[in-house]
Amino acid sequence: MIDSYGRDIDYLRISVTDLCNLKCRYCMPEKGVNKKNHHEILRLETIEKVAQAAVKLGINKIRLTGGEPLIRKGIIDLVNRIAQLKTKGLKDLGLTTNGILLKEYALQLRKAGLTRVNVSIDSLDQAKFQTITRGGNVQDVLDGIKAAKEAGLLPKLNVVLIGGFNDEEIEDFVYMTLEDDVEVRFIELMPLGEAANWDKKHFLSGTEIMNRVPRLIPLPFKGHGGVARLYKLPNSKGKVGIISPLSSHFCHYCNRIRITPDGKLKPCLHSNMELDIKNYREEYLEKFLMDGIKCKPLKHCIQSNDYIPIERNMNEIGG
Ligand code: GTP
Ligand code: 5AD
Ligand code: SF4
Repeated sequence: MIDSYGRDIDYLRISVTDLCNLKCRYCMPEKGVNKKNHHEILRLETIEKVAQAAVKLGINKIRLTGGEPLIRKGIIDLVNRIAQLKTKGLKDLGLTTNGILLKEYALQLRKAGLTRVNVSIDSLDQAKFQTITRGGNVQDVLDGIKAAKEAGLLPKLNVVLIGGFNDEEIEDFVYMTLEDDVEVRFIELMPLGEAANWDKKHFLSGTEIMNRVPRLIPLPFKGHGGVARLYKLPNSKGKVGIISPLSSHFCHYCNRIRITPDGKLKPCLHSNMELDIKNYREEYLEKFLMDGIKCKPLKHCIQSNDYIPIERNMNEIGG
């Protein structure tokens, strides 16, 4: 479906839970989040119906997010049900995870029809990883990435760049791509949720990657579809991606909308505008999605003076 600015919206991100088995400092409050009542969270059947309606409208890529999607009960079944839409035009069914449970689930996910996974890993150093995630074990994530590769899930690694925390590891992450056919993506920290009031020193520009590793060669820019600009080291097997929503935003070719676990459609990650699924009957889910696409703003205005930080934390939106 084409939005009001001529962009082809073909990608739906569905956050299936706001809960998580980690508490990354930029994402979750220290006290964690209160578990919502069952009736406040979209049922798996409703998520499936939203996905069906979306594919009818021309959505060909769906990504399940969280919180941590792998802790949602019935997630494998949900993947299975949504994967049936591959006969109706769905091309890509992905999932973004913190990787902790991936070792256990990778093969089941692949068998259920998942195409790809993206895994968050902000440090390779256990002490730092434990600090940022408030208790996580990096080896679990590395085991999960290995299992995902073995299952054919083509994992991409997401590294949120945090000044004074993991910028010393940029080279280590980049050098992983020399021998490993993996895409490591550095993401500029976005000032939302917990990170909204963080000190400026923690916000690094994606250009920091090029300063640290000038040997990176830019790959042809594909525009529509991906948020990362891609690079590679000479003779490397893998790639390096830089996701720069702040220093070089990609809103003009944004192709996505998102649904929160409590059934709100967010046309833009950085806008407080939301449409509530409760205002639509099940037979009007296509209208729900079309209304959301119609009011998608042209771009975010994080850097403008009248920017109002969004109210929700990232764990409720799924990135
Ligand atoms: P691919 O399908 O592999 O390209 O995945 P993806 O990059 O769309 O999804 P992923 O969940 O891995 O997101 C990577 C990063 O991009 C996360 O930090 C997201 O918050 C961020 N991101 C995704 N979509 C948007 C968007 O529309 N706007 C902004 N500003 N950031 C986004
Ligand atoms: N800025 C940038 N990326 C973020 N993520 C979560 N919060 C932020 C933020 N404030 C990332 C997670 C995950 C992806 C879905 O979004 O680390 O990789
Ligand atoms: Fe969990 Fe992801 Fe938030 Fe970390 S960023 S607390 S892994 S939802």
